[in-house]
Amino acid sequence: MSPDEFLQQCDILEAQALAAFAAAEAACDSKQLEAARIEFLGARSGRIKQLQKALGAVPATANPAAGKRFNELKRKVEAGLDGAAERIAMRSRQQAEAQRQRAFDPTVPGTALRLGRLHPITQTIEELKDIMGRLGFAVAEGPEVEDEWHNFEALNIPPEHPARDPLDNFYLATAARCATEIPNGGAPSLNPTEAPPRLLRSQTSTVQIRVMEQMRPPVRVISCGRVYRPDTPDDTHFPMFHQIEGLMVDRDVTMGHLKSTLRLLARMAFAPDVEIRFRPSFFPFTEPSVEVDMTWESGWIEMGGAGMVDPNVLRAVGYDPEVYSGFAFGLGIERICARRHGVTDIRQFFRNDVRFLHQF
Ligand code: PHE
Repeated sequence: MSPDEFLQQCDILEAQALAAFAAAEAACDSKQLEAARIEFLGARSGRIKQLQKALGAVPATANPAAGKRFNELKRKVEAGLDGAAERIAMRSRQQAEAQRQRAFDPTVPGTALRLGRLHPITQTIEELKDIMGRLGFAVAEGPEVEDEWHNFEALNIPPEHPARDPLDNFYLATAARCATEIPNGGAPSLNPTEAPPRLLRSQTSTVQIRVMEQMRPPVRVISCGRVYRPDTPDDTHFPMFHQIEGLMVDRDVTMGHLKSTLRLLARMAFAPDVEIRFRPSFFPFTEPSVEVDMTWESGWIEMGGAGMVDPNVLRAVGYDPEVYSGFAFGLGIERICARRHGVTDIRQFFRNDVRFLHQF
């Protein structure tokens, strides 16, 4: 190959290589650029490699000039490749960023947060308070740790009554008992006989006594809260559950008032056509006493107990039974809540499984 021919080939190759890189760059296509790199700079069969072989055929006298031109060609083509590669990479980054920015659409509605909600039992309590509030009943509270006076004695449940059996109640280890069990422990003046027994209340009827001790008739209150009984857990039992207690005391309160109040409560809490019925029963603190049933689908279900406040209870809180009469009722809140929501196992209320609780 003549020196002129060689130099001409160099010019052509340089122009073609730079044009190929520029085309790849214009398309912002790194694959196209890589193809061009292989075509021109490929280590074994690239066109520049081919031209290098032709350099050997250039006459020796012209060789230094041809070699110089060849090196310059190689440098320029390599620099052209690097430049194009760098600019493609930069533009790709910019395009990805622009794409990311476009992907953020501030008008798309946000992802809703999963907010917590009230426990179904709490929701039921709130509704019952609301319903009874509309019937004129105020809300009263009482402690969950009670003395025997409020849980039994004042409710006409005397010491020998089986309802007071330690096996049927959660009595607390008293301070005095603890003190005697710790060697040299406790205050020296503590004597086991001095500390009155206390227990987790087994019914919200305790609040009847606390309210009547605090105020004179007319009384119209409800109280909702936890009660405790050592029952083995199953579908319908749990050692802790909730009751709603109702109490109304005034002159001339009758069983008719009791029944119409419970009927209104049932109809407002469940459905307008719900019926209730009373079945004779016994509670030490009411006379007469009844079990309260309500219609549910095709049958009757038991909601709790009720009755006219026993004169002994009125006397225990200093009310004159010749002047005042009253009614009281106690209903199971789990039962109400379970019926309303079709829950068949009340233990579910206390498992704290959010997949269950989130349905309400
Ligand atoms: N305290 C009773 C119980 O827990 C229910 C009840 C309350 C009955 C008020 C009569 C009057 O079973």
